[in-house]
Order: sequence, then C-alpha cells, then structure tokens
Amino acid sequence: MAPWTPVALPPGLVASRRTRIVGRRYELAVMETVWESVEQGDGQVLLLGGEPGAGKTRLAAEVACALHEQGAAVLVGTATRDAGVPYQPFVEMLDHLFRSSAPGTLDELLDGSATELRRLSRHVDRHLPDAVERGEPAGDGRRDLFEAVAGLLRRMARDRPLVVVLDDLHWGQLPTVALLEHLVHSCVDSRTLVLATFRTTRRTGRRS
Ligand SMILES: Nc1ncnc2c1ncn2[C@@H]1O[C@H](COP(=O)(O)OP(=O)(O)O)[C@@H](O)[C@H]1O
Ligand SMILES: [Mg+2]
Repeated sequence: MAPWTPVALPPGLVASRRTRIVGRRYELAVMETVWESVEQGDGQVLLLGGEPGAGKTRLAAEVACALHEQGAAVLVGTATRDAGVPYQPFVEMLDHLFRSSAPGTLDELLDGSATELRRLSRHVDRHLPDAVERGEPAGDGRRDLFEAVAGLLRRMARDRPLVVVLDDLHWGQLPTVALLEHLVHSCVDSRTLVLATFRTTRRTGRRS
C-alpha cells in the first residue's frame, strides 16, 4: 500500500497568498517559535483575532503555505455565517483530504474509524478496500465521532507535523467548537498546530 502524502493546499488558500505579504514580522516570528514546540511534540493552539479585513486569513495562509512547503500536512476549514452543515469546517477539511488523496492511500490512517468519519465526509469510502463492510455508526454518537477525528489527526501527526487551520471561527456553531475543544485536549502531546482566526467585533445577524 502506498503511504499517504500531504494533499495539495486548497486553491482558496493558495490564491490569498498571490500578493506579497507586507509586514507581520513580529507575528511570523512568534509563529516560528510556536512551530518549534510543535515539531518537538507539544501540540499548540494559536488564535488570530482582529476586525474584518485586518489580515487574519492572509496571515494564516502565509503560515500554512510556508509550513506546507516545509513538509507539514495542512488541513483547512472555514466557518461561514450561513452554515447549513453541522461541523462545517471539519467537513470541508476532511472532504478535501479524502477527495484529493489517491484512492486507497489513507486506509491505514483511517485505522477502523471510517464508519464514524463517514458522518462527516462521504469521500471516506474511496480509501477502503472493496471487501470492507460499510457499517452504520452505533453507540454514543458525539463521543465516538470526536474520538474518530482526534485519532485520525494524531495518526497523521505521527508521520509529519500537522497544521489545522480554522478560519472565521466566530461563525462556528457550538458542536464545531465542542469538537475543536476535544481535539485541542487530544492533540496536546502530538505534533499539531491549530491555527484559528476569529473576529473581535460583535457578531450580527446570527440566528441563534
Ligand atoms: N500583511 C498583508 N500584506 C498584504 N496584504 C494583506 C495583508 N494582510 C491582509 N492583506 C490583504 O487585505 C485583504 C483583507 O485581508 P484578509 O486576510 O482577508 O482579512 P481578514 O481575514 O482579517 O478579514 C486581503 O485582500 C488580503 O490579501
Ligand atoms: Mg478572513
């Protein structure tokens, strides 16, 4: 079985990096220090807060692309105001991971968690051998799902450092934030950097 390789970065992230970044030397230096800890196995969380247009996404893109070029795996998910899908940023990043990787290459990484992860991405099945039964999840839905996602990230981070970018987290619904919280605890001793951006201005137009 071919080993998995980091998937290409989402086009939106690459596009936002087309123009040269101005300034941000301090922030980039901080990120470099944080990344050194990540590489030594200390999971880290970086929260980038600011007003709309302040440059949060641009800075996250700069960091994610640079780390990707250094060999890190990068997963990217964006929360939106009108999310119609539960766990939307995680659905986005897992869809991209499973769809962009050559069929079958993530079978070992899945390590039995396909049934749970199918709740988030229907592209999981591309990586299962034909003979594997496509069962329905059973048991405690949320806890099992959270553990399945955490297990996948931990296994990924064993092979190469991992960056999880969550853009516009201020739009994230409660289940998304709960999953993120679980991941932060679960990945504390793995080579994982969670890089989340959020608005510091008041939210308006939220339905709940
Ligand atoms: N440091 C920077 N250097 C150059 N362009 C920047 C920088 N920060 C932001 N921009 C540009 O400003 C615009 C808004 O930035 P963006 O990252 O989308 O803001 P936010 O995510 O905080 O709403 C984008 O076109 C982006 O490319
Ligand atoms: Mg943004």
